[in-house]
Amino acid sequence: MWFQSALISLLATTALAQYDTPNGPDEDGKYEISAEGIRGRFIPYGASVSNLFIKGKDGVERDVVLGFDNATAYEGEVHPHLGGVPGRYANRIKNSTFVIDGEEYHIEPNEHDNENTLHGGPDGWDYRNFTVVAHTNDSITFSIVDPDGKEGFPGEVVSYVTYTMTPNTWNIKIVALATTKKTPIMLTSHTYWNLDGFAKPNDLTALNHTLYMPYSGQRVSVDGILIPDGDILANQQYSVNDFWSAPKQIGANLTAPELLGNCGTNCTGYDNCYIVNRDQNGPYDWRTSEPVASLSSDWSGIKVDIFTDQEAFQMYSCGGQDGTLPYKSTQGVNGTAGFVPQYGCIVMEVQDWIDAINQPEWGRDKRQIFGPGDAAYTVNAEYVFSTTS
Ligand SMILES: *[C@@H]1O[C@H](CO)[C@@H](O)[C@H](O)[C@H]1NC(C)=O
Ligand SMILES: *[C@@H]1O[C@H](CO)[C@@H](O)[C@H](O)[C@H]1NC(C)=O
Ligand SMILES: *[C@@H]1O[C@H](CO)[C@@H](O)[C@H](O)[C@H]1NC(C)=O
Ligand SMILES: *[C@@H]1O[C@H](CO)[C@@H](O)[C@H](O)[C@H]1NC(C)=O
Ligand SMILES: *[C@@H]1O[C@H](CO)[C@@H](O)[C@H](O)[C@H]1NC(C)=O
Ligand SMILES: *[C@@H]1O[C@H](CO)[C@@H](O)[C@H](O)[C@H]1NC(C)=O
Ligand SMILES: *[C@@H]1O[C@H](CO)[C@@H](O)[C@H](O)[C@H]1NC(C)=O
Ligand SMILES: *[C@@H]1O[C@H](CO)[C@@H](O)[C@H](O)[C@H]1NC(C)=O
Repeated sequence: MWFQSALISLLATTALAQYDTPNGPDEDGKYEISAEGIRGRFIPYGASVSNLFIKGKDGVERDVVLGFDNATAYEGEVHPHLGGVPGRYANRIKNSTFVIDGEEYHIEPNEHDNENTLHGGPDGWDYRNFTVVAHTNDSITFSIVDPDGKEGFPGEVVSYVTYTMTPNTWNIKIVALATTKKTPIMLTSHTYWNLDGFAKPNDLTALNHTLYMPYSGQRVSVDGILIPDGDILANQQYSVNDFWSAPKQIGANLTAPELLGNCGTNCTGYDNCYIVNRDQNGPYDWRTSEPVASLSSDWSGIKVDIFTDQEAFQMYSCGGQDGTLPYKSTQGVNGTAGFVPQYGCIVMEVQDWIDAINQPEWGRDKRQIFGPGDAAYTVNAEYVFSTTS
């Protein structure tokens, strides 16, 4: 009896402590951080961003990322990887197989009738609760320990994800250590954007958003289920994949015949890994050289410039959305409820070349295979917001 009541009072104190501290989660299970011109909310599930508030040119705050209204909703049937950190290996692994030092590993498949593994497997990192290890008014750090053998991957991986707000900027730093064996690691933030916060009258799509990727004259060639086939393709000027020669609206080439099949069999739109080529300009500082991508919406006037040390950029134009995923109560015209239509969002992922662990001729092992003796795996990114008139 004694230990039971002691335990209950301990649990109650712990729960109270969580809600009492100014830095605990709110009633929706979300942790807020902010700086001048920017306010974000995050949840332990997948270390996900769930809200990001930015003021548009009309002075009205827009929530520019997809998510759910509370942390509980993320654990339902629908799991579009909303705003989390997929791990330990983002995107697809061909045939759920890879070889390290001559040893073949078979991991858990979870896509296309179990032909391949997507985002680290059926219980990848963004299906798990990270631990909140630090939370201040402008920063939050999550951690995860991914055990040896989980989802079939060799060795333990320990990772920290830190999100920090500075004026008008969302900073992301991800660090991961392979502590026991050599293993593939590729991480990113899988955030879905709609820079109008679904408040643009008569158009909930992101087709009028303008994208510019000045370094991305090439992309990874993929088969009908989006698995790389080893080739690197040219994004010829004026072709549907040309976002490098000039800024272009996402929907500019929607009726071009080449756009059918561009994101897999029967898919019209984008779900492509664009290569970031900037070495020719000499040594660069990713924080001060040009952004790898810029996305803007004329309607809200919100623009985001993405700076990163990563050398590829995955962009998905949400062709698979079918009007069944609700947007949040913080979105829509004055908070009216509604659903995300096809092309209602854009996913942008700073990362490395997808499935390079199965394309040794690309020579990217040092960026994707990590063991106990190696330096830490890292991802750095800054999302800098401004308004256009
Ligand atoms: C969380 O959000 C979901 C979906 O909007 C809703 O059904 C559920 O009632 C909410 N739960 C809580 C505890 O607020
Ligand atoms: C896929 O992996 C399985 C083992 O899981 C292997 O038997 C098969 O040959 C592989 N298929 C291809 C096409 O590589
Ligand atoms: C994540 O944490 C929430 C809140 O504590 C809990 O309800 C949920 O069961 C946890 N989910 C997993 C997958 O551990
Ligand atoms: C953090 O925010 C809380 C609540 O708004 C405020 O009381 C506190 O002074 C802030 N702390 C710092 C260090 O800015
Ligand atoms: C928005 O996109 C449509 C095509 O979807 C295009 O016809 C129209 O010109 C665009 N609007 C603006 C303001 O660029
Ligand atoms: C794509 O759109 C751009 C901008 O409108 C245009 O210059 C280009 O010719 C189009 N390409 C195709 C293949 O339709
Ligand atoms: C693609 O679409 C065609 C025509 O609608 C259909 O016959 C075919 O089965 C589809 N293929 C796949 C893989 O969905
Ligand atoms: C939304 O609310 C604002 C401020 O209350 C108001 O000016 C505007 O007319 C409203 N818009 C719609 C479409 O109801």
